[in-house]
Amino acid sequence: MSAFIVEGGKRLEGQVQIYGAKNSVLPILAATILVPGTSVIHNCPDLSDVTASIEILRHLGCMVQQDGDTITVDATHMLRCDIPDRLMRQMRSSVIFLGAVLGRMGCAEMSFPGGCELGPRPVDLHLAALRTMGARIDEDGGGLRCEGELTGCDITLAMPSVGATENIMLAAVAAEGTTTITNAAREPEILDLQQFLLAFGANVSGAGSSVITIEGGQPLSSGEHRIIGDRIVAATYLAATAAAGGKVEITGADYRHLSTVSSCLAEGGCILRSSDAGIQIESNRPLAAVRPIRTAPYPGFPTDAQAPLMAAFARGTGTTVFVENIFESRYRHVDELTRMGADIKVEGRVAIVCGVPQLHGAAVQATDLRGGAALLVAALGAKGSSEITGLHHIDRGYQNLDGALRGLGASIWRR
Ligand code: EPZ
Repeated sequence: MSAFIVEGGKRLEGQVQIYGAKNSVLPILAATILVPGTSVIHNCPDLSDVTASIEILRHLGCMVQQDGDTITVDATHMLRCDIPDRLMRQMRSSVIFLGAVLGRMGCAEMSFPGGCELGPRPVDLHLAALRTMGARIDEDGGGLRCEGELTGCDITLAMPSVGATENIMLAAVAAEGTTTITNAAREPEILDLQQFLLAFGANVSGAGSSVITIEGGQPLSSGEHRIIGDRIVAATYLAATAAAGGKVEITGADYRHLSTVSSCLAEGGCILRSSDAGIQIESNRPLAAVRPIRTAPYPGFPTDAQAPLMAAFARGTGTTVFVENIFESRYRHVDELTRMGADIKVEGRVAIVCGVPQLHGAAVQATDLRGGAALLVAALGAKGSSEITGLHHIDRGYQNLDGALRGLGASIWRR
């Protein structure tokens, strides 16, 4: 079993370049299905979730080429509209293909995306919206069978679901007429999806706000797009520097996309300077406790940054309270952090983190993507050696994490 071996206590110094956002490239790869031509996408990260998406596109009949961080998809000839269970299981978020396949093909078949490490991942909002647009959807035995011509309409989401917003946007591009999405998710990745669609001839507006309008029915044509930087990967490097100490310059991500994370670390005693050139963080002492960190839909504190930031605050002074409002069980990294000497108590959605002067290295196992990143953050600031297994979780969302950290002076290698 592969593992990260980390010798903690080394300060991080230098610069790290952030690559394209996982949560942007995945819906955009799904969106290429709507283009009966060629889509050229730049700044794509090299992640197992991207590999899984490419496998799904090829299964559906697309031709896909990867050349460095550029992925070219030719979706001129789609062959089928079903995604087999083995491909659905490789990537939980493959439900994001539903709207695009249904919009392009008039049919879509896939197994229910299973739950994942974060708890149940319902898709009721996705299905309700597609039904409102005219889709007939049968749900039986863990499978979804959808068919029908889609018509634009007004949709209000009970909660600003990122995936549901993206699925509706893609279905609406193919639907005849106008679709409005009220209470839409406002994440930067939604705006990036809109920019992709506009570059390929779609008529979409409002992304980034709570109301998105799509004039559907026009065919899309070939185009190019560059994926935005990954704000959660950037937040992870901020947390790593806060935990290990040091001075790091992060380029390639928009500092405005992670202002809640930066301000929380500044409140904890880090020195942060942000500009269009990048984000610089300096940390010379363990973090001081900050006001409660409550995760929320964008522009609130991102749930994906909760675990890495908790790991940084585990070594420090005072008590910091986290409230996880987005996912049901997103504290599975706490038990593993406790093995490293962290003092954290979980009560439902609340985690009470009592900072300790020093964490110690331990053998720990990643429980999910961001939980795994949290263990690495903690190990970098811990005294002694840590072994982190379960790297398949981390490989879903982080490219060359150990190489980049070694470049910053960390003692880490992959066994
Ligand atoms: C996206 O997941 C991201 N994944 C997640 O990142 C991220 O944590 C999440 O948005 C929130 O920001 C991708 O973009 C691929 P949601 P998604 O629909 O779309 C409930 C990572 O670490 N819900 O906004 O699945 C749901 O259970 C991953 O990179 C329903 O109840 O998130 C959750 O509690 C993890 N019914 C909440 O909404 C639905 O139909 C937010 O889910 C849909 C969602």
